[in-house]
Amino acid sequence: MAAKKSVPVIDIEDSASLPEKLVRACEELGCFRLMNHGIPMSLMSEMKAAVRSLLDLPLEVKRRNSNPHEPSKGYTPPNLASPFFDSLSLYDMASPNAVEYFCSQMDASPHQREIIDKYTNALRQLVRLLGSKLLEGLGLTGDLFQEGICQLKMNKYNYGPETVGQTGAVLHSDAGLFTILHDDENVNGLEAEDDATGELISVDPVPGTLVVNVGDVGKVWSNGRFCNVKHRVQCYKPAVRITIALFVLPPKDEKVAVLPELVDSKHPPLYAPFDFEHYRKLRISTNSPTGEALDLFR
Ligand code: SIN
Ligand code: FE2
Repeated sequence: MAAKKSVPVIDIEDSASLPEKLVRACEELGCFRLMNHGIPMSLMSEMKAAVRSLLDLPLEVKRRNSNPHEPSKGYTPPNLASPFFDSLSLYDMASPNAVEYFCSQMDASPHQREIIDKYTNALRQLVRLLGSKLLEGLGLTGDLFQEGICQLKMNKYNYGPETVGQTGAVLHSDAGLFTILHDDENVNGLEAEDDATGELISVDPVPGTLVVNVGDVGKVWSNGRFCNVKHRVQCYKPAVRITIALFVLPPKDEKVAVLPELVDSKHPPLYAPFDFEHYRKLRISTNSPTGEALDLFR
């Protein structure tokens, strides 16, 4: 029997083989950990504390920022499917004034605002680095990577004794290109599925590192080479779990398509181009949380 896979840890400072390692990890499991990613430990913990205090605000304050029509642009309260989970989203965090607007909506203090500003800037640098190294690993040269829309989603899982064994986030793939997840070093529970065997692998915390998950657009972009990893979050113990996910989505006003540089007579495109917002709606209307709706574009 094949050995159970584990989540690879990739050191960004290992510059000689970084592009190849990233591509291999995206192809094999679609999930890996990043070490030496350039975001200082102190900033990571300050951001965690800022997010924790925003998510600890009274429900009525958080609710001021919810918009049922735009769940990706504000507060998502607990619901029937996830009664112990709520989240705050900072949509298109790279657009001018996005951080300022989010902070004023949340009545963030000047200190919290400064932390969120520094953290989002550091993440954007990492997105650009990862994007360009991935393209390099695919054999593409030049400055092809374009930063898309970045949605920062701050999650709080409020686990009590009665929630142990329950699911905090059901099995899903992420819709975008890739996700950079700052998980909770004290409260584990993230599990990634090995596409080859269907086995669930625990993505155990490694302090100071970040998790990267390939999403549905990453699979299309790479012409099916990358694995849009299915993952879920389980509750193992009563605790509060705080995580911060950065969804890297495709650039605005551009169709999602296979990278033209990866297409030749031996490798025809596996997907027809599509509009990302249309795809996001299809994922919901066809109830395909793990990206089955991609097949509609084959
Ligand atoms: C998710 O992938 O939906 C969230 C992951 C996490 O909070 O650990
Ligand atoms: Fe996810």
